[in-house]
Amino acid sequence: MSFSECVAALSRDEFVPEKTWRLLLSSLDGEQRRELMSMARAVAMENFGDGVYVRALIEISSYCRNGCYYCGLRSPNKEARRYRLTKEQVMDCCDRGAALGFNTFVLQGGEDVVQSDEWLADVVRCIKGKYPEKAVTLSVGERSRRGYEMLRDAGADRYLLRHESACESLYSRLHPDGMSLDNRMECLRLLKELGYQTGSGMMIGAPGQGIDELVADLLYLDRLKPAMIGIGPFIPAAGTPFENEAPGTADMALLVISLLRMRFPGALIPSTTALATLCENGTELGILAGANVVMPNLTPAGYAEKYTIYNNKKIHDSESAGQLELLERKLNRIGYRIDFGRGDYKEM
Ligand code: 5AD
Repeated sequence: MSFSECVAALSRDEFVPEKTWRLLLSSLDGEQRRELMSMARAVAMENFGDGVYVRALIEISSYCRNGCYYCGLRSPNKEARRYRLTKEQVMDCCDRGAALGFNTFVLQGGEDVVQSDEWLADVVRCIKGKYPEKAVTLSVGERSRRGYEMLRDAGADRYLLRHESACESLYSRLHPDGMSLDNRMECLRLLKELGYQTGSGMMIGAPGQGIDELVADLLYLDRLKPAMIGIGPFIPAAGTPFENEAPGTADMALLVISLLRMRFPGALIPSTTALATLCENGTELGILAGANVVMPNLTPAGYAEKYTIYNNKKIHDSESAGQLELLERKLNRIGYRIDFGRGDYKEM
């Protein structure tokens, strides 16, 4: 199969075969990768123009009941510094975000048992009461059907839950007993069924992830058809079992972003903080590979530093919601601009 046949398969209405994904992930030379990236960029430009959506990220809690081996917030990590925001603090963040022009708030946190479904539903109701026209996205892990229903009824519009790995054996290498790929996938199915614009995704270059495992992820995403896809390199986190592992590469993360853009022309794909942390100009490189969303950090100073899912997380540059001018300048330099629209997902 030639390069152009593989690429053509990405825009067909039928499933992309395993061997096509494998070839695209492992056999392209530098020239072909560059060509793919520029095609992905053109697809994003066709669908979204030169606008890049911004979402204000509020990290509501660094407590987590889980023990995911890669994540700095894992419960056994004694080095992790913990905090949880109060409802009033979250509302203050939203006021600040609204004043800056944001139209989406993303509430992200560890699976903090104190921030129950009821507590969170109350916060969401409060945000939607004050800002009915703005979108609320939640990224607060695995919950029950009842919890997801309650949060949707409170007004949450979108939900981010990365599947992390669609390969059973890798999933169990990344997560302790008690967490299962089956449950993760069931949560994602539920979220879609309940009407959330649903996001998934995975890290690139997690320990034990090779081409086969990435192929499994792409096959899964092809079936799930997510509205949003979060892709970022793995970066080791201090105090975790993976603290001495090698990080993922920006090249691989960018290739996967381009492939996903080709396959899902209308998807909302962020240029992630992990990418910006791993390499200088990571934000711009992600956009140039076909991403169309940036999520500036709105977590209050004093707390954002403690939300260390991985080492050296970038929060002070254009990743900060207070530095939108800086982000705008970065985007302008590569021919893009901030789009403050809600940017809801439209099925294509
Ligand atoms: N490196 C990169 N990304 C990470 N995440 C968690 N830990 C790390 C890490 N060490 C990602 C996970 C999670 C998202 C919120 O952050 O994919 O879903």
